[in-house]
Amino acid sequence: MSRVETRGHRLATNVDQPALQNKIRELKKSKNAVLLAHYYQVPEIQDLADYVGDSLGLSQQAAGTSADIIVFAGVLFMAETAKILNPEKKVIVPTLEAGCSLADSAPPVGFKKFISENPGHLVVTYINCSAEIKAMSDLVCTSSNAERIIDSIPEWQPIIFAPDKNLGRYLIEKTGRTMKLWHGSCIVHESFAIDKLLNLYQQHPDAKIIAHPEAEGHILKVANFIGSTAALIDYARNDEAQKYIVATEAGILHKMKEAAPHKELLAAPSNENNTCACSECGFMKMNTLENLYHCLVEERHEIHIPDTIRHKAILPIQRMLELSKPEMENR
Ligand code: 13P
Ligand code: SF4
Repeated sequence: MSRVETRGHRLATNVDQPALQNKIRELKKSKNAVLLAHYYQVPEIQDLADYVGDSLGLSQQAAGTSADIIVFAGVLFMAETAKILNPEKKVIVPTLEAGCSLADSAPPVGFKKFISENPGHLVVTYINCSAEIKAMSDLVCTSSNAERIIDSIPEWQPIIFAPDKNLGRYLIEKTGRTMKLWHGSCIVHESFAIDKLLNLYQQHPDAKIIAHPEAEGHILKVANFIGSTAALIDYARNDEAQKYIVATEAGILHKMKEAAPHKELLAAPSNENNTCACSECGFMKMNTLENLYHCLVEERHEIHIPDTIRHKAILPIQRMLELSKPEMENR
C-alpha cells in the first residue's frame, strides 16, 4: 500500500461532495466547458478535471481545446495564458484571488526598468509571471522546457532571466550560460527546511529526494532528481526506488500516489512549526468545489486581457510551444 504523509488539505465541510461533483460534471457537459487543473489542486478538483497537468501541459491543452468555455483551476497566470491563447473563448476561474507569490515578485514598472538597465539582453521569463511581463518578453519557458529554451539561444546572446532566481541559478549551472537574474521567488518552495529534510532522510536512508527547481539551491544540491511537477510524477512512476521525499507543493502527492501506488511518498518538511501547512500553496488552495460550482453556474470570474498586451504576450508563448514539441511528444 502506498502511504502519503502530508499535513493534509482543507476539505470542504458541510457539503455533499459527491452531489456537488455530479452537478459540476453536468454543468461542464451542458456548457461545453473544459476543466483544466494543476497538480497542486485539491484531490476533489483534480478528480473532476478533464486534464490535470503542469504549466506546459496546461498551456498545450488550452491551445488545442475545442470547448466554448475554459474553466481554469490553478492560479491567475495560468488562466491568463489560456486567455492569451484563446481570445475568442470565455476563460473563467473559481476565484480572482488565486494569484502567485512568484508572479507578484515581478511588478511591470520595476521589470521594465530592469530591462532598460540591461540593453541588448534577450528576455526569457518563466511562465509564472503576469501577462504584462510576458508582453515584455522574447521567450517564455516552464520548468519542463527551460533548459531546452535556454539552449536554443545563441551562445553570444546575453540573457535576462526572470522572475525566479532559484530556477535561474539552477539553469546557469545546467546550461553553463551567464544570465542576469531577477530576484523573485516562490514562498512555498522557499519554505523547505534543509535541516529537517536531512533529518527525515536519516530516518529513511532508502528514500530518494526529488525536488522542483523553484526550491532553493541547498535543497536542489541534495536532490537525486530535479524536475517539473509532471517530471517528478513520471520519475516516481518509472524509477526503481520504493520511497521518495518530495520537495514541492503537497498537492502533487495525489497524482503521484496514483502513478506509483505501491511506493511510499513523504512530503519534504518546511521551515515553520509543525502546525503550518507551508508546503501548500495558499493561492492554489483558494479554489474549492463550492467556488468552482458557482464559477460554472454564473460563468464568472472571467479573465480579460487588453489587446495591446495580448498581441505582444502571445508571441513568446507561441515560440515556447513551438520549441516544446519534443517534451510534449514524450507525454
Ligand atoms: P510546473 O510547471 O512544474 O507544474 O510548476 C508550476 C508551479 O507553479 C510550481 O510552483
Ligand atoms: Fe506560485 Fe509558488 Fe504557488 Fe507555484 S507554488 S503557484 S510558484 S506561489
